[in-house]
Amino acid sequence: MDGDRRKVLRLIGKGSVLAAFLAQIGAAGRAFFPNVLYEPPSRFKIKRPDDYPDGYTLDAAHRLYVVRQKDAFHVISAVCTHLGCNVQWSDTEFDCPCHGSRFRPDGTVISGPAPRPLEWFATSVSPDGFLEVDSGTEVARGFRLIAGKGNA
Ligand code: FES
Repeated sequence: MDGDRRKVLRLIGKGSVLAAFLAQIGAAGRAFFPNVLYEPPSRFKIKRPDDYPDGYTLDAAHRLYVVRQKDAFHVISAVCTHLGCNVQWSDTEFDCPCHGSRFRPDGTVISGPAPRPLEWFATSVSPDGFLEVDSGTEVARGFRLIAGKGNA
C-alpha cells in the first residue's frame, strides 16, 4: 500500500517535470513566430489621373476622396477624425453619418464632434502613369498635383 502511494507520487513528480519541460520548449518555439502586425502599405497606386472626372470621387477601398479640378489633383482622407467612420461627400460638404460631424470641401471642420480636419495625403504620379498616394504622409491643405492630360 505504501509502495503504491510512492509510485503514484513519483509518477506525479515526473509528470510535473515533463509538463514544465514541454512548456519551456513551447515557449522557446513561440519565439520563432514573432507577433507581426500586417498592415496595408501606406503608399499605393490608384487609377490614372484621366480616369477621374472633375470633382470628388470616392475610392472606398482606400477610404479616400480624389479631388480633381481640371488638371490639378489632391487626395483627402474619407476617415472621420472622430471615431473613424467614412464621411460622405454631398456636393457642398463632407458629412459623417455616425455622429453628425460636417467638414468643408477642404476637409476643415464645420461642426463636431470631429476634433480635427480630414487629412490630406501626399500624392504623386508613378513612373507608369498612375496616381500614387502616401497615406502615411500628410500634406498641407492647398497642395495640388498637376497631372491632367499631357502631364501624366
Ligand atoms: S465618427 Fe464621424 S462624427 Fe463620429
